[in-house]
Amino acid sequence: MLVNSKKMLQEAKKNKQVVFHFNINNLEWAKAILEECDKLKVPVILGVSEGAIKYMGGYNVVASLCFSLVSDLEIKTDVCLHLDHGSSVESCIQAIDAGFNSVMIDMSKKSLEENIIKTKEVVAYAKNNNVSVEAEIGSMGQLDANGLSQGTNTNLNDCLTFVKETGIDAVAAAVGTVHGIYHGKLNIDYKLIETLATNLEVPLVLHGGSGLDIEILKKCKEAGITKININSDLQEAWSIGVKKYLQENKDVIDPRKVIGSGIQALKDTIDMKININN
Ligand code: 13P
Repeated sequence: MLVNSKKMLQEAKKNKQVVFHFNINNLEWAKAILEECDKLKVPVILGVSEGAIKYMGGYNVVASLCFSLVSDLEIKTDVCLHLDHGSSVESCIQAIDAGFNSVMIDMSKKSLEENIIKTKEVVAYAKNNNVSVEAEIGSMGQLDANGLSQGTNTNLNDCLTFVKETGIDAVAAAVGTVHGIYHGKLNIDYKLIETLATNLEVPLVLHGGSGLDIEILKKCKEAGITKININSDLQEAWSIGVKKYLQENKDVIDPRKVIGSGIQALKDTIDMKININN
């Protein structure tokens, strides 16, 4: 069933479980994620970045694609289609108008005041359309050619003000993770996660969930994270699978076989992550 993320995340927070947000890039990824989460009987958030939306053809294409898959594959588990890192109020409105169940507005690089103003605009529009809203506060570290640059972790008082003023349903807090594949030692502030989770009524979202081994993901869950976003780990698993297949099958030209050759690795990665709830 298609739902917004509010109830699924509130229930997960209450039961100290994690809901995974897996990013999609195309039809095959959306199909694989839906099939696997339905098989495992777990709710799932399909995250789509603005870049992926542009790649796939637009907001309406993505919404029609995902909703049709849920219907034609007879997916029984709860599914939420979510805009990941919406960069403007307009982008969130476009997603909501296309039927997305949830949006993230990311004004984390702006001042707290501006972040609050823009986020409130999105919340007002979203609430009228039964759409849930996630927003970010603090700044995550970044991976670039020079390695890892630390961000500024979220501060509790600012976070309390932000959540209260905006009325958001989930908050993405900077706690030391970065986006992208990072195999080095991260500096995750578990104490901060605990403090935020204890003091906030809304669920806490961990961005940059890739490159963290299962034990670290479990520690994040135990400290109070409710939603974990995974993108790069799926990309890595899928591309390793495809490269291996192409090396072993140099004559294959059927795109279904080429693209499909990475799908089992993608599904295995999903299984591994979801297992932290057991
Ligand atoms: P990763 O690519 O590090 O998994 O981050 C995904 C993410 O946070 C999407 O919002």
